[in-house]
Amino acid sequence: MELRAQHGLLKSLVAKKILMALTGLFLCLFLVVHLSGNLQLLIPGYSGRLQFNSYAVFMTHFPLIKIISYVLYLSIIIHVLDALVLTIRNRRARTVDYAVKSGYGSTFASRNMGILGSLILIFLVLHLANFWYKYKFGEMPYMVSPEGHYVSQKGEAIPGAVLKEGHLWVDGVDKGPAMKDLYEVVRLAFGQSWIVAIYVLSMIPLGYHLAHGFQSGFQTLGLRFGKAFSVIRVAGWLFAIIIPLGFAIIPLVFYFFPEKLN
Ligand code: HEM
Repeated sequence: MELRAQHGLLKSLVAKKILMALTGLFLCLFLVVHLSGNLQLLIPGYSGRLQFNSYAVFMTHFPLIKIISYVLYLSIIIHVLDALVLTIRNRRARTVDYAVKSGYGSTFASRNMGILGSLILIFLVLHLANFWYKYKFGEMPYMVSPEGHYVSQKGEAIPGAVLKEGHLWVDGVDKGPAMKDLYEVVRLAFGQSWIVAIYVLSMIPLGYHLAHGFQSGFQTLGLRFGKAFSVIRVAGWLFAIIIPLGFAIIPLVFYFFPEKLN
């Protein structure tokens, strides 16, 4: 290949690596926010249900969060497509396969980022179809207070209200949108053993993917040197253990200890 063309290719590959690092670290940040939000599912009783459903309303209606959500969707798409291009380029560049697969200094996670990422992508498609798609476009249950009244999107139980096309009506007056019961959708899903198994098992590839990805992202951005080296290494390992564990605990509590949530 001509030298100039080679230089151009290298520059575009470096740009792709940087974009992967930036989108990957942004996705790490999303995981922290998403886990914190989801842990509200473990607050027992009606107040927990109300808090989680109100949080879902906030996350889907607040304009700034809506913009961040679009950045999130774009980041996922860029991260996946860049990973695909880089993997294909690496394969092509390496015309002769390694004699020994476990290269010096490489880890199980670093050698299998493509497979680990693909497993996470399969989980994500199932996950979004289960919750996100249903909440935004599917048929949803609506929230009812312990006294049996429908609850408005503002979190107020409205005595005597009837539900019509997602709105609450009292004596012909529209009292606004009703609160969708996302908590109930999650509770029903996590009452099924196969869904719980998928959620818990998927956290294993997520953990390995994060174990390499977190540190590698900082390294690509040139931020992993000197004292920061060991801090990022430890933070990476902690992140890769705590985040998947936090996510796995939620379906396990719903399945094995439902009475603790009443
Ligand atoms: C116990 C585990 C989890 C629970 C209970 C859970 C719950 C939910 C729910 C209820 C939604 C829909 C909320 C909405 O549309 O506002 C959602 C959206 C989403 N989840 Fe999860 N989630 C879990 C784990 C994960 C994991 C591990 C990932 C990533 C690997 C993930 C990625 C996403 C994404 C990207 C969205 C769309 C967010 C948006 O529209 O802004 N979730 N999740």
